[in-house]
Amino acid sequence: MSYNRLNNGLIRFKHSVHTPNISQIPNFTKYCPIRPINEELAPYVHETMNAYPRGSKHVNQQHYYHNRTVLLHDYLRKKPHAMSLLQLAQYYDDSAKLTKQKIINSGKFVKEELAIRMAHKIFMLQQLPFSVINNFHFVQVYESYYNIFERFRKFPAIRTLDDNYRFAEFLKSILQDFNSLNLPHLVMGALECTILDLYPQDKMDELLSGLLRARISRRLIVEEHISVTANFLSGKEENTLVLGDIFQECSATEYILDASRACQKFIQEMYFESLPLPELIINGDTDLKFYFLPIHLKYLLGEILRNSYEATIKDYIRQGLKKPQPIVVTIIKNEESSLFRISDRAGGVPHNDKNIWSFGKSKERASESLKNFHMLPGLQTVSLYDHLYHNKRASTESANRPYMYTSLEPMSHTNLTTGKIQFVKPLVRFIERSYRYRLGIGLAMCKVYAEYWNGDLTSHSIQGYGTDTVLKLGNLMNSNRKLQLDKV
Ligand SMILES: Nc1ncnc2c1ncn2[C@@H]1O[C@H](COP(=O)(O)OP(=O)(O)O)[C@@H](O)[C@H]1O
Ligand SMILES: [Mg+2]
Repeated sequence: MSYNRLNNGLIRFKHSVHTPNISQIPNFTKYCPIRPINEELAPYVHETMNAYPRGSKHVNQQHYYHNRTVLLHDYLRKKPHAMSLLQLAQYYDDSAKLTKQKIINSGKFVKEELAIRMAHKIFMLQQLPFSVINNFHFVQVYESYYNIFERFRKFPAIRTLDDNYRFAEFLKSILQDFNSLNLPHLVMGALECTILDLYPQDKMDELLSGLLRARISRRLIVEEHISVTANFLSGKEENTLVLGDIFQECSATEYILDASRACQKFIQEMYFESLPLPELIINGDTDLKFYFLPIHLKYLLGEILRNSYEATIKDYIRQGLKKPQPIVVTIIKNEESSLFRISDRAGGVPHNDKNIWSFGKSKERASESLKNFHMLPGLQTVSLYDHLYHNKRASTESANRPYMYTSLEPMSHTNLTTGKIQFVKPLVRFIERSYRYRLGIGLAMCKVYAEYWNGDLTSHSIQGYGTDTVLKLGNLMNSNRKLQLDKV
């Protein structure tokens, strides 16, 4: 009897060793009820059932959770430094003068700071449920973070101007490198986790906002150092402005007009060229010029106007109106901030459109967005470790079978053969996408960026009438002493 029980126990024990934890097996029927798990999906299901993703350098049995010595005993003990935009531009000294020593010190600081910041993020990712981090897209992010951490940590000490020159080149390559895929991977990972019920929606939104804010800070630190190094090398003796070079004076009206031109182009592409377009009225402080990051401003206004244009045209077609309703942008400036109120008369946000501020929204919307991400031209969600560590093997295998797996979708592998990752400036690529590709993340992303810049994004919708979307951006010249870059 006891032998039997033991024997049964043993069998069950053996069984459980070989069967992956059930929570790691995605429920494909939930994701797509009409598509059975047939031969087409089988290889991908198999892949997602592995305890660890195949070929991953850092998410594997030996490394994951084990390589804590460097993290815990060294880097996690150090706290990231909060800093203001003024400190960023002047590097801890009260003048804008560019000296050899200042440039070298700045390089030293950036090398250490980035390693510390990456270490904290890696540790944070390790605290997530393993089924989340084991998601194809999150693995890519984790791999990339670890890789960046190692590269910063191991970069030779910066002692001379030459060392710093090499470091600046290295920074440039990091910015343009596969790192630029992290943004789409983060969002796609979040969408997949929503679809598969792997992590609560509100926590996922929080996680993503935090990671995105940290990403903005890191990129600012890196870009500013590249910029001061370039300024110094070009013979400049002073760093321009209190905010440094990466911030520029932007004309509000010009940015609005640019964004609206892009919207008009996309509408004509989506429908037909002679479709009447909504009139755009700009009023208020139309001469406003203010210092801001050009790409962020372009992205923010682009996404918001796009929603208004999209809704206005749909409303025009739905109602069979004589012409589309106008879109009115009001610019307001006060001491503290610049405000943009974008008013449309497109019927308001539909009642059934829940969680418009969330990255995943509903499961149905997440599936739709994910599908569009997969079709986005230029976004090649290649597997990094395939690319970096198994390049030779991958290219010979690619002819026979797909070797890229995402948790949920078979992906085209033809574009990998070029070997080049084209998604260089993710924000720009997002905003340049065709109207066909609704990603469902516009408002969620814009809220992160607006809040980062001491602002806000709100939407006031009157069902059956229209929507006022208000974008507030903090006056950076006023707040340049605020410890803005503390978001790690
Ligand atoms: N100006 C607007 N008028 C009507 N609905 C809007 C407007 N702005 C946003 N929405 C609603 O909010 C949703 C989320 O917008 P967004 O986050 O930009 O994602 P996407 O535009 O890709 O769907 C939209 O799908 C739409 O239903
Ligand atoms: Mg949108």
